[in-house]
Amino acid sequence: MSGYFITFEGGDGSGKSTQAARLTDWLLEQGYIVLRSREPGGTDLGNEIREIVLHHRGDIAPRAEALLYAADRAHHIATKVRPALARNEIVIQDRYLDSSVAYQGAGRVLGAAEVRDLSLWAAEGLLPDLTILLDLDETTARERLDAANKRFDRLEAEKSEFHGRVRQAFLELASAEPDRFLVVEATAPVESIAETIRHRVTSLLQ
Ligand code: TYD
Repeated sequence: MSGYFITFEGGDGSGKSTQAARLTDWLLEQGYIVLRSREPGGTDLGNEIREIVLHHRGDIAPRAEALLYAADRAHHIATKVRPALARNEIVIQDRYLDSSVAYQGAGRVLGAAEVRDLSLWAAEGLLPDLTILLDLDETTARERLDAANKRFDRLEAEKSEFHGRVRQAFLELASAEPDRFLVVEATAPVESIAETIRHRVTSLLQ
């Protein structure tokens, strides 16, 4: 398969969407064809699943939650991402399987290896060419979410130990695959983060 698959990861409030949007705009200016997408969501079916995993009122058993994210991923990768990569496009995606490993594997304590295997099965083994991890300490993350003044979704509403495990898991994933990951300190100025990302993406595209 050709094309490039670039994912953004990090805790809630780490600025992934801002940076994904900036990178997308910059690549479009360079003349690349870019598909910007996200998980959960990114397809009609995915948006229905997103509504359930983020806003369902009752409990969702941890394994059911993991399977909902995996179902969203399976459909999204098969119907949207793989076709775009086959057309040689660059896919810029907010969140992918590393989020499942961090949130369901570590946050929900389902185990990193099993959740990773589930995601890889769902996505038929597709791994990103580059994953940008925006790392943010938990106090700042909480302050940013509070300042945004929106209603917390099911995951955001989890307590601080949960988010501590999520952050730790992301950092462990990054150190296990240093070639795939670029770790950026998310409290740095927006423009300097964007520049660091452009630099790494430029070498990826060469
Ligand atoms: P996101 O779209 O980043 O939320 P928002 O638009 O509110 O910033 O992600 C939604 C939530 O889903 C986020 O808390 C992380 C969680 N998530 C998982 O737990 N597992 C996954 O596999 C994915 C993709 C997301």
